[in-house]
Amino acid sequence: MLRDADCGAFRKEHIGGQPVLAGWVNRRRSHGGVIFIDLRDASGMVQVVFNPEESPEAYQVADQLRSEWVVQVRGTVRARPSGTENPGLDTGEVEIVATEAVVLNTSLTPPFYLTDDVEADESLRLRYRYLDLRRPQMQRNLKLRHRVVKFIRDFLDARGFLEIETPILLKSTPEGARDFLVPSRMQPGRFYALPQSPQQMKQLLMVAGFERYFQIARCFRDEDLRADRQLEFTQLDLEMSFVEEDDILNLTEELYTAMIESVTPEKKLRKPFPRISYDEAMDRYASDKPDLRYGLEMTDVSDLAGETEFRVFLSTVEGGGRIKGFVVPGQAQLSTSQVRELEGIAKEAGAGGLSHIRYRGNGPVGQQTEEEILQSAGLRMPAEWHQRLADRMGAGPGDLILLMAGRQPRLNSWLAVMRTHVGNLLGLADADELVFAFVTQFPLFEWNEDGERWESSHHPFTSPADGQEEALDGGDLGAIKSKAYDLVCNGSELASGSIRIHKRRLQERIFEILGHSDEEISSRFGAILEAFEYGAPPHGGIAPGIDRLVAILCGSPSIRDVIAFPKTQSGTDLLFDAPATVDPSQLQELSIALLE
Ligand code: AMO
Repeated sequence: MLRDADCGAFRKEHIGGQPVLAGWVNRRRSHGGVIFIDLRDASGMVQVVFNPEESPEAYQVADQLRSEWVVQVRGTVRARPSGTENPGLDTGEVEIVATEAVVLNTSLTPPFYLTDDVEADESLRLRYRYLDLRRPQMQRNLKLRHRVVKFIRDFLDARGFLEIETPILLKSTPEGARDFLVPSRMQPGRFYALPQSPQQMKQLLMVAGFERYFQIARCFRDEDLRADRQLEFTQLDLEMSFVEEDDILNLTEELYTAMIESVTPEKKLRKPFPRISYDEAMDRYASDKPDLRYGLEMTDVSDLAGETEFRVFLSTVEGGGRIKGFVVPGQAQLSTSQVRELEGIAKEAGAGGLSHIRYRGNGPVGQQTEEEILQSAGLRMPAEWHQRLADRMGAGPGDLILLMAGRQPRLNSWLAVMRTHVGNLLGLADADELVFAFVTQFPLFEWNEDGERWESSHHPFTSPADGQEEALDGGDLGAIKSKAYDLVCNGSELASGSIRIHKRRLQERIFEILGHSDEEISSRFGAILEAFEYGAPPHGGIAPGIDRLVAILCGSPSIRDVIAFPKTQSGTDLLFDAPATVDPSQLQELSIALLE
């Protein structure tokens, strides 16, 4: 080894020791004829002092050192002179007095400062990702990611799970995104698809009798990118045989609780995780992934709105829409221009508008004067109506009410944007708190308006809820519930899973409803359908996204901050400049011709 100690390890008890260190020059300062270097390695940082009187040779070497040069240092640990200790540094009570120094490598001046409060543009950070990753925050993020995955592996191993790898070159697996295709050289005109998830493989492993499977699995989806989406991302993919929904939810809750208490004990974790149905989540929060760190719960006031003379409300209710909204406690003092800003957000989300009422008086709502109640046009109503509205919504003096009109499901989507916006605006969410919940009983199907067809809410392998199979033949498909569930945290969907179908006939019926022809069913899903005929056990599972979980634990707004080499919003790897053009001979080998 080129060293025998870690920079970050030095404490008072090491005083007098004579370590050999190796690392990067984090910072170099000259002060009163002495050179100070903050020497950094993966473990942390320590101050090294080069004094021309103690070692002229080492001082000469230090004189050339620049940021990010790589250097080996031999020296003696001593206490820092009184008054120069640095409480901001773990090693801040001591320093190393250098007796020898060797330059192991030089460095160009980095294009940005490698500090946590980096101001560099993200594209520059991604272009020089190997430098960006040297920053302490990025080192912490990837260490935390390692701890999370290690914890998962140990936890599941102790419970009898086997980690089994499944193919990357395979066939299309429907998860609602486009596939990445890989042309076959040996079979011209044929393509593999990269798995959007190992869904069918893990079900086949249940048929194969493994009973408890997991995999830290890479998934590939060609979809538009956002802060919480990458083209390739990682799931903890998990499946169990002979289980019911509660077994999977209990195991997941136990895993997350134990993991978070072990890897980020400083987080405030709310326990136990509530389980709410999809319908309840939509009614109360207008979202299937509500941020439960704050209230702002919804109330449907269509009947009361129908008593007004506000044309938009009346025509909405008449046309089958609803009037729904929420109370923002203590915000009646918002100015008209602030309320207009909120309306702007609502319109950006697609809503026609946003109505509001501000109860500015101190007395009970029903006794407030017309001057004390400020409201959108059309909502000037008798005090008695306001009292009934306030009672229904749980509003009181000093509160603001926000209301929207529209048809579902769009009304809920606008309200959800509004709720999140107001939550952020007022700082209602505690960044250190983690509030998980399971959302259960999702609908089995969703109507796709554009395509005019039914789609699976989760994926087609999801089992209908008990007793609802009959409705598949002639019943109201939109009303059928499923055994699908999500795990959500702080407004983000972290995991998704279900109890699966394990009988051929039912699985085929689902594919038919989704509009697949017989040929399509047998060519795309023939393998799993056939497997179901050989004693497939009842089974179910879940797939938590690792990137999203680690981002939340790190407090990062983007999963790019917890992936070593992520892609940009447009799917580019700026470091390697991928995707790239290829040599025409490679295309020829693959029997591929590019369109002009
Ligand atoms: P689903 O498609 O809901 O379910 O994905 C499960 C979890 O994976 C994460 N995730 C993503 N993370 C980053 N970038 C993406 N593009 C991305 N897409 C999904 C999310 C999500 O909750 N086979 C099923 C699971 C099952 O039924 O067992 C599946 O893949 O955290």
